[in-house]
Amino acid sequence: MTITEERAPYGSGAAHRPVATKRVRTHHLLEMKRRGERFTMLTAYDMYTAAVFDEAGIDVLLVGDSAANNVYGYETSIPVTVDELIPLARAVASAAHRSLVIADLPFGSYQASPEQAYLTAARFMKEARVAGVKLEGGAEMAPQIDRLTKGGIPVCAHIGFTPQSEHALGGYRVQGRGDAAQRLLADAHAVEEAGAFAVVMEMVPGDVATRITAELQIPTVGIGAGNGTDGQVLVWQDAVGLNTGHTPRFVKRFADAHTVLLAAARDYATEVKAGTFPGPEHTF
Ligand code: KIV
Repeated sequence: MTITEERAPYGSGAAHRPVATKRVRTHHLLEMKRRGERFTMLTAYDMYTAAVFDEAGIDVLLVGDSAANNVYGYETSIPVTVDELIPLARAVASAAHRSLVIADLPFGSYQASPEQAYLTAARFMKEARVAGVKLEGGAEMAPQIDRLTKGGIPVCAHIGFTPQSEHALGGYRVQGRGDAAQRLLADAHAVEEAGAFAVVMEMVPGDVATRITAELQIPTVGIGAGNGTDGQVLVWQDAVGLNTGHTPRFVKRFADAHTVLLAAARDYATEVKAGTFPGPEHTF
């Protein structure tokens, strides 16, 4: 379908807003897997980056609980709350016209019971208007995934290294090595059987991720899981070099946004101090 554009008023979001485009749905990801076509996912937490990634053709935008580290400045994803994530998810969902937008259920908002998971996920669907949710965990989360999908909420599972369980897992460590591969396979099959539309695999050996991808009907999305998954996901601040701190080995920096922003901020400061901005052209 052709994308037509119209100029949006100042402050209303993207400068050029697509008014007609074909929305990515969960079944499109399944169809892409069947055709052997890879798909893309990036995190997004605000309207401008969501609009840019949407325009770039990123298939899925994840309002990750990594907003904890990348928006709110927490050390881990554990403290971030539903009330902190919903406004970010609403901004992303409003700005994206083509991408499928899903949001993470944060730590403590779904583990207690399938009912708790349903009530939390329903808030994201109603208040943020996302198209689905992601939650962390394998076989132990099957009742939650079953409850949500039967209640009309698409669920993306997340197995392997699950950041919300950082303390239980003993830190940032590759999961599914050696004998643990069988457990990872069992988790992947369990979330598929429970009804997940896709599964993220984080920090797992490439050969294990490739095997799981071949065995599952649903699409897999890798982050530190090698090149054999159906899709890939990265945290956007890592991918564009806004985060200049330590990043894991699986991150590739596709740009140097830190340098661009730093130069712009310095130029602005220089011009204001020199009295050259604002100029006559910026003055009423
Ligand atoms: O919250 C997040 O950013 C994630 C990705 C790392 C998959 O869960």
